[in-house]
Amino acid sequence: MNIAVIGTGYVGLVTGTCFAETGNNVICVDINEQKVKRLRQGEVPIFEPGLDLLFERNTKEGRLKFTTNLHEAVEHAQIIFLALPTPPGEDGSADLSYIMGVARDLGHIITDYKVIVDKSTVPVGTAEKVAAILAEKLPKKLFDVVSNPEFLREGVAVEDFLKPDRVVIGTRSEKARKLMKQLYEPFVRQGNPIYFMDERSAEMTKYAANSYLAARISFMNEIANLCEKVGANVDQVRIGMGSDSRIGKRFLFPGIGYGGSCFPKDVQALAKTASTYSYDFKILKSVMKVNGIQKGVLTKKIRKFYKNDLQGKTFAVWGLAFKPNTDDIREAPALVIIDELLQAGAKVQAFDPEAMKNVQAIYGDRIQFCQNMYDALHNADCLCIMTEWSEFRNPDFERMAGLLDEPVIFDGRNVYDLDQIKSLGFHYISIGRPKVKGKKSIGALAG
Ligand SMILES: NC(=O)c1ccc[n+]([C@@H]2O[C@H](COP(=O)([O-])OP(=O)(O)OC[C@H]3O[C@@H](n4cnc5c(N)ncnc54)[C@H](O)[C@@H]3O)[C@@H](O)[C@H]2O)c1
Repeated sequence: MNIAVIGTGYVGLVTGTCFAETGNNVICVDINEQKVKRLRQGEVPIFEPGLDLLFERNTKEGRLKFTTNLHEAVEHAQIIFLALPTPPGEDGSADLSYIMGVARDLGHIITDYKVIVDKSTVPVGTAEKVAAILAEKLPKKLFDVVSNPEFLREGVAVEDFLKPDRVVIGTRSEKARKLMKQLYEPFVRQGNPIYFMDERSAEMTKYAANSYLAARISFMNEIANLCEKVGANVDQVRIGMGSDSRIGKRFLFPGIGYGGSCFPKDVQALAKTASTYSYDFKILKSVMKVNGIQKGVLTKKIRKFYKNDLQGKTFAVWGLAFKPNTDDIREAPALVIIDELLQAGAKVQAFDPEAMKNVQAIYGDRIQFCQNMYDALHNADCLCIMTEWSEFRNPDFERMAGLLDEPVIFDGRNVYDLDQIKSLGFHYISIGRPKVKGKKSIGALAG
């Protein structure tokens, strides 16, 4: 099939590359000329494990192309994917201006039947709105608008796309359904389902899934906070809970709040949809409130430990990305914490395996960026772990203790085993678990 993907970001590039991998001819279009130039030169502009290999193979085979010209991209396409941004608007609702702008442009370009697919996360009713815009310029027989929300997770996006748990397709058109089924069949050979439903249900499914996952995280963060008060260990509670098959083991890890380009904005957008329909979605409001508070939990512990005096202290920070295996820093909790540290007069020496370039573009020289994880520890008062990258899991603890001014770790991701850390003599403060007091008296600071 001939496919066009409009918007070549995290979702668009993965979508386009994976459709090319299954033998389709794909043209990805983006308005960012610099990005398209880099893609044409064979450079993958984002970090996503496994993407570069597929990208290289399919561009070499001529199945994956890039352009800034919308007309060129969609001219011969049977299916057009919209993988455009839907950032939060001022009132929290999803900003649909990118989607509607492109829909308007498509109305001027399309001359034969095409399926236009909302791959972006869009509020209930958007497929109908896109169809209405197209219908201003085109006869209805020339297009169908389908909702096909994307469930990929950054960091494992390629794997998720190639082997999805399920594919959700919202359409009531038989013609569009057939084309979409044909396109997705190679991805579900192992028997995972393609669910066909109406457009509104498909749009709602995406928001319901993300909001539920965000709620699970906020719930566990509150359990962790309570564990600290009652003297329980959230690690043990999590294992005990998660082995119940009705609950499941995944997404029960407490930390410093959820971030990223999806959960914060999608929860907010669903709450806004609810209020538009005069529905008071109380749980969602709490999910957002809890998450906001959780992003401040680690700094609260840090402030308590240093008796509220962070002026002149040096903090080593491991991890900036909102989660491991991505360079995405959108809504990353690490940045909220760093902002507070800098504001309190502290110095930050940071390391992240992939996200430093993106952070540097915002912070410039307000943060010292380090070559590797150990460099960040040089003469630092303590270490703060913000993202659970694998390489932080088994460090050379002796070397760490030698580099840090004091062997103190604030761990926002519960990366280390408490017994191990105790035997190594670190002072260790994590989330929802008992504090480990260091062997050495930590100056006069230990709170
Ligand atoms: N990132 C994720 O993990 C993820 C997962 C599932 C769904 N989504 C949803 O997918 C959508 C896209 O997310 P993303 O993370 O890929 O965004 P992104 O910001 O990484 O990419 C969007 C791209 O669209 C381009 N663009 C903007 N206007 C354009 C136009 N008029 N024509 C062509 N290109 C244009 C931008 O230059 C950018 O490259 C959002 O709705 C998001 O909620 C994201």
